[in-house]
Amino acid sequence: MVKVRKAVIPAAGLGTRFLPMTKVAPKEMLPVVDKPAIQYVVEEAVAAGIEDILIITSPHKKLVEDHFDRAFELEHRLEAKGKTAALEQVKAIGDLARFHFIRQGEPLGLGHAIGMAANHVGDEPFAVLLPDDLMVDDAKVLSGMISAYEENEASVVALRQVPMSEISSYGCASTEAEASGDGSVVKISHLVEKPAAEEAPSNLAVMGRYVFSPSLFRELEGATPGVGGEIQVTDAMATLATGEGLFGYVFTEGRYDTGMKQDYLRAVVELALVDPELGSTFRAFLSDLAKREGLTG
Ligand code: G1P
Repeated sequence: MVKVRKAVIPAAGLGTRFLPMTKVAPKEMLPVVDKPAIQYVVEEAVAAGIEDILIITSPHKKLVEDHFDRAFELEHRLEAKGKTAALEQVKAIGDLARFHFIRQGEPLGLGHAIGMAANHVGDEPFAVLLPDDLMVDDAKVLSGMISAYEENEASVVALRQVPMSEISSYGCASTEAEASGDGSVVKISHLVEKPAAEEAPSNLAVMGRYVFSPSLFRELEGATPGVGGEIQVTDAMATLATGEGLFGYVFTEGRYDTGMKQDYLRAVVELALVDPELGSTFRAFLSDLAKREGLTG
């Protein structure tokens, strides 16, 4: 069986939920403590065994490409000043994986963006990581999904239960059996993109982690626009579910949606609290703030 070595990160979206910040800056470059959000996603892929990463960008995402490239001038200056630790940190980013970039010229949807990876990926399984979904779990979910792909020889998507009031923001799965808890793998019978709450078949929402068999590309090739007039990967996955099979990997913990202001702030605060350098002073600051604001019970 071919190992999952390649990952695709679609990063072409406009980030309209985060305006005005994203007027000119890519949403993937928003800092979470001291790293851009997309670097966490790349590090997660690498921790799960990925060696080759294709990032799908769009015309105003140059900073994303620059971040994973060498920065000769900066490196030269850091070297001249003897700032070895900073130099190593900067160089290590480009060495995380083999990086490739292609541009999605027109915003035709997530399915279209992923379909652009067909030539690069070829006839092997691959992971897809949506960069808005930040997973702080030591790559547990992605690694578990790769194992589930290898065991079942069929595509796997991450699922999480959400309140019914939120299901219309996600892809939604019907499964053949109840998910028994964290890490459980369930067979998916049907998928629907962003259903209205009263039409949703369950409260199991698709989160932005996928491990696909290369046959996904065949389904995407013939795809017609779905919800929002865009080519939806969820629709191509629904076809996989009734054909060669599709599994869900259910998890509960560790996900932040950094494309949403509220959840982005939660990510920054929670990650700052466990940061080895900042953690203890930031904790003291928060506890003092909580007292001043009357937040403690
Ligand atoms: C995309 C997918 C959706 C999935 C979601 C996860 O939607 O189309 O199926 O549930 O990501 O974050 P978007 O958030 O890009 O609208």
